[in-house]
Amino acid sequence: MSQFDDVKHLMKGRTIARIVYDAPTIARRVDELGEEIGRAYPDGELLVLGLLKGSFVFLSDLVRRIPRPLQVDFIVASSYGNDTVSSGVVKLVYDPATELEGKHILLVEDIIDSGRTLNRLVETLSQRRPKSLAICALLHKRLTTDLALEARFVGFDAPHEFLVGYGLDHAEDFRSLPFVASLAD
Ligand code: IMP
Ligand code: MG
Repeated sequence: MSQFDDVKHLMKGRTIARIVYDAPTIARRVDELGEEIGRAYPDGELLVLGLLKGSFVFLSDLVRRIPRPLQVDFIVASSYGNDTVSSGVVKLVYDPATELEGKHILLVEDIIDSGRTLNRLVETLSQRRPKSLAICALLHKRLTTDLALEARFVGFDAPHEFLVGYGLDHAEDFRSLPFVASLAD
């Protein structure tokens, strides 16, 4: 139980059901993904676009493991409408200032659940005439067969539980946990 005791002061009274991916496991996989991404883009300009906020921890580790020149920017999307069932309407709150045309765009997401957010973003980003567009997700729940663009780089096929940590939140809490965990009810 000592791993749980170590983070008790971060948990706001909630408990962790289990650690799904611990920090060393994530670090090893991020190393592999960085190498894989480096090999996938032998030439051209690469712009890594982090979808905020969930991807910020993953993105910062990942870009330092990609052994080729690249640029980083962010994109902020927000779903709105009915708050219990996602409406499928996604608004761009921050649009990357960087030129996308002619560049390889790698969109980095924390977790793919219904895929609605990504589907809308893919549509929007495609219109900017990038040289290529691909998705990298740390976690993929494999719940949807309806992705406009299937993720090319995936860290882990995630269990169908609500996960927090390593950037993922529950009502904005738990993003700073160094591992991915599922919350106890
Ligand atoms: P989608 O549009 O349904 O694929 O939702 C993707 C977004 O929902 C992710 O970027 C996360 O912010 C959030 N999300 C989905 N599943 C989880 C989870 O298990 N834990 C934390 N956030 C999640
Ligand atoms: Mg979230």
